[in-house]
Amino acid sequence: MYPDLDGKVAIVTGAGRHGGLGAAIARKLAEDGVRLVLHDLGETKGAMAPEHGVGAASELEQVAEELRTLHPGIVTHTADMRVESEVEGLVARAVAEFGRLDILVNNAGVGYLFGPFVEQTQEKWDTVLDVNLRGAFFAMKYAIRQMQAQDEQPGWGRGRIVSIGSRGSKSGSALTSSYIASKHGLVGLTRSVAIEMGPSQINVNMVCPNHVTTGLGSWQNEYMAQMRGQSVEEYLEAMRGRIPLGRVGTPEDTANACAFLCSGQARYITGEAMNVSGGEEMH
Ligand SMILES: NC(=O)c1ccc[n+]([C@@H]2O[C@H](COP(=O)([O-])OP(=O)(O)OC[C@H]3O[C@@H](n4cnc5c(N)ncnc54)[C@H](O)[C@@H]3O)[C@@H](O)[C@H]2O)c1
Repeated sequence: MYPDLDGKVAIVTGAGRHGGLGAAIARKLAEDGVRLVLHDLGETKGAMAPEHGVGAASELEQVAEELRTLHPGIVTHTADMRVESEVEGLVARAVAEFGRLDILVNNAGVGYLFGPFVEQTQEKWDTVLDVNLRGAFFAMKYAIRQMQAQDEQPGWGRGRIVSIGSRGSKSGSALTSSYIASKHGLVGLTRSVAIEMGPSQINVNMVCPNHVTTGLGSWQNEYMAQMRGQSVEEYLEAMRGRIPLGRVGTPEDTANACAFLCSGQARYITGEAMNVSGGEEMH
């Protein structure tokens, strides 16, 4: 519990899927009294945003309804992270509803559209980079403009940005070149913006989870196991064998790290890409 989070206002992007990291992050923040704009894409959009990859508006509403049992200050908003005006509208919604914005969690991401490097198409490459990296840039830009216009809060600062990277922010892996490039790119974006925003007392960090069996994670397991000629259980067993703590991550592991980075206790941490990987990634 972080008492200094009570009453703060946050946007969590890509938070509309049951069992997803975004929903868990939103729950953790809501438990500490954070007022929330829960965001997601809200609808499928052809092969680049298929059913197994995106959250429907109805599911987003259900997630919000569940979180309203913690407190009533939770609204939903759909926007395509690839479209700058829609992301600007997302930040404007937070301000319209709650009068301010303290925290942005950039969680929306495309972790599908995988495949052999030489078979990658421009359309797939652009979609992954546009959501995971350009979308985070848009959201940071409008969120930070708002945060800079607000007063500094003693002991806490003027704002917090937390972007969800991945173990793929630090190491490469086969069949996922665009995803890995986008998540490495987020590290550079985070470090640069952290330096620029230091004088504004806005902390800019990342959480880098390893595998979590969310809806997206399940799809990844099936895809990777199939490409390796393994069963899903064999694939997961090999993965657990590489993780010093002996298990894959949970959404709550990531949510706990996010809440810490949003709290006053992380006041002196900025520009970090924090591994939450049971020791699988160490740099
Ligand atoms: N699950 C894992 O193993 C894992 C590991 C490391 C990092 N991550 C990262 O965590 C984040 C959440 O992943 P998750 O596993 O909870 O999956 P998820 O599918 O539940 O969450 C991703 C969300 O992004 C949204 N999204 C996709 N395209 C969008 C667009 N154009 N505009 C707006 N929203 C869009 C989806 O609708 C979805 O709700 C992602 O950034 C992912 O890369 C996941």
